[in-house]
Amino acid sequence: MSDAYPIIDHTYDAVVVGAGGSGLRATMGIAETGLKTACITKVFPTRSHTVAAQGGIAASLGNMGPDHWTWHMYDTVKGSDWLGDQDAIEYLCREAPAAVYELEHFGVPFSRTPEGKIYQRAFGGMTQNMGEGPAAQRTCAAADRTGHAMLHALYQQSLRFDADFFIEFFALDLIMDDDGTCRGVIALEMETGQIHRFRSHNTVLATGGYGRAYFSATSAHTCTGDGGGMVLRAGLPMQDMEFVQFHPTGIYGAGVLITEGARGEGGYLTNSEGERFMERYAPSAKDLASRDVVSRSMAMEIREGRGVGKEGDHIFLHLDHIDPDILGERLPGISETAKIFAGVDVTKGPIPVTPTVHYNMGGIQTNYQGEVVTKQDGDPDRVVPGLFAVGEAGCVSVHGANRLGSNSLIDLVVFGRGTAHRIHEITKPGTKHGDIIKSEDERALARLDKFRTAKGGSPTAEVRTAMQKTMQSNAAVFRTSEILDEGMQKINAVYQRMADLSVTDRGLIWNTDLIETLELDNMIGQAVLTMAMARNRTESRGAHMHEDYPDRNDDEWMTHSLGWFRDGQVELDTRPVHSYTLTDAIEYIKPKKRVY
Ligand code: FUM
Repeated sequence: MSDAYPIIDHTYDAVVVGAGGSGLRATMGIAETGLKTACITKVFPTRSHTVAAQGGIAASLGNMGPDHWTWHMYDTVKGSDWLGDQDAIEYLCREAPAAVYELEHFGVPFSRTPEGKIYQRAFGGMTQNMGEGPAAQRTCAAADRTGHAMLHALYQQSLRFDADFFIEFFALDLIMDDDGTCRGVIALEMETGQIHRFRSHNTVLATGGYGRAYFSATSAHTCTGDGGGMVLRAGLPMQDMEFVQFHPTGIYGAGVLITEGARGEGGYLTNSEGERFMERYAPSAKDLASRDVVSRSMAMEIREGRGVGKEGDHIFLHLDHIDPDILGERLPGISETAKIFAGVDVTKGPIPVTPTVHYNMGGIQTNYQGEVVTKQDGDPDRVVPGLFAVGEAGCVSVHGANRLGSNSLIDLVVFGRGTAHRIHEITKPGTKHGDIIKSEDERALARLDKFRTAKGGSPTAEVRTAMQKTMQSNAAVFRTSEILDEGMQKINAVYQRMADLSVTDRGLIWNTDLIETLELDNMIGQAVLTMAMARNRTESRGAHMHEDYPDRNDDEWMTHSLGWFRDGQVELDTRPVHSYTLTDAIEYIKPKKRVY
C-alpha cells in the first residue's frame, strides 16, 4: 500500500494534533522547553472551534466578590453529579487563577471592571461558600467573544516559539507499537494529497469533541471527534460517552449558541404563559441552575404543552429588559447573532431557543497530567506510553456527568499547560526513535484507500444524516429503555451502512468527499458507544436522564463507563471514580443530593 501512497517522514519529540485552545497551549508549552515540537491541524489554527466560545473562562479571581478555589472545586464536583475525579478537579481549580493571569499577560483583551480588574460574570452552578452562599461571579469574560480572544492570543504566542505548524493536515491514524506504546501519527496533507508520517516520542490529541454526531449542535462542522476515532481504532477505550451536554440556549432552528452569559447578565426564560418557569424547578439558582437542570426543565415545559411558537416546541429567552448599553458592551456578539439567525432585536423581543447539543463530557480517558490511560491487567489507570489527550477530546475527568459553563475554556489551558509540563519531565531531548511496525502504516493507508475507492450505494452525507437523526432522537435530553433499545438497533444499522459507502471523488487533492467520509468513520464508533453506554447506565446522573431509572444510584453506578469498539463490536466495562484529592489542601467532597 505504501507504494501507492509514498510517505514523507518527520521526527519530533512531540506532535500535537489540533490547534484549538488546548492544542495551542500544549504546543507552546512544549516548544518553550526546547523540545522539537510540531502541531498538525486540519483547519487554520484561528478557525479551530475554541474561536466560537462565548461567555467566558472560570477562575476564582474574586474580582467581583469573595471567592476561593475550594468553592470552585465544590461547585465543579456538584456540577459533575459526583462523577468527576476529585484529584483532577482539585488540580483544575487550584491552577485556574494562574492560568487566567497567564492569558492576560499573553494579551487576551478581557473586559474590565471600573478599577481595571478582569471582569467576571455569573454562570450556572457557580456559587460562594461551598454551595451555601449566593451566586459567585467567577467567569472571566472578553465581552461574549472570550474564545475568539483566547485563540488568537494563543496562536500569536505559539509563534514566539520554535514549533512547526502543519496546517490543513488531516490526521489519519496513530502509529502504535506491539507493546502498546504510541510512536506518532500518520496524516494526509489536504492540499497536495501527500502522506506524512510523524514519528514522535509524545503524541497529544487535542482534536475536540464529536458534537457533529448529532443533528443539531452548537459545535462547528469540524467537531468530528477525530482523536476519539483514532484511539478506538488503536484498540483503546473511551470513557463516559453517555454524558452529552445540551446547552439550554441554542437558537431555535439554527442551533447557533446564545451564551449562558446572557442569563449571567440577567436574562431569563419564559414559557407560553409568560411564566419564568425556572423558579419552579430550581428555586434558588433559577435560570442559573446547571445546564442539565435548565435543559431538562425547558424540555418538560415543551412536553407539557407550554412551549412557545406555532408548534409549541421552543422557549423564549428575554434580554429585552436589560439596558441596551450593557447589551452593547457585554453581549455584542449574541445581539448580532440573534438578529441574523432569529431576526430578533434583543433590545425589543425575546430570542426563540431550545436545548442544543454542545459538549461531550466523555472522551479519551486520561489522568490529570494528560497521559492517556487504559484498563489493563486489573489496573484501571495504566498509562499508555507516548499518548496524551487534552481539551474536549479528553476525559480527565473533571466534568463527570455534567460540565459547568465556563469550565471548558479553563480545562483547555490548565491541562494543555500541565501536559506540556509532563512531556518536558519525561522526555530527554534528542532521544532516538525506535523502528516503526510496517503494519501500522499499512493499517492507516488501507483505511484511506478503502474509503477513497468506495463504490457502494450510500453517499456519505446520507449515512451521516441517518446517524445524526438517530442520535438526536434516541440519545436526547430524556431517555428510556425503549428509546435506547431502538436507538441501539438504529445506530447499528447506520454502522452497517459504512460498508456500503459511495465516494465519488477518487483524487487526493482537496478531496472533501473523502475527508468527510473519514470524519464520519471517526464519529460513528463514538455514536455507537454513546448509545450503548446510555443504555447500559440504569440510573439518572447529570446529563444522563433515564426516565425508567429517575434517581441517581451511587451504590451501583458511582463509576465511570469504559467502552471499546472493535470491528463493530462494543465491549463495556467500568472504572472507579477517584474518590481522593491530590493534596491535603482539601478533603474529598462527599456525595449528597444535588439541588439548585
Ligand atoms: O454559554 C457559553 O458561553 C458557553 C460556555 C461554555 O460552554 O463553557
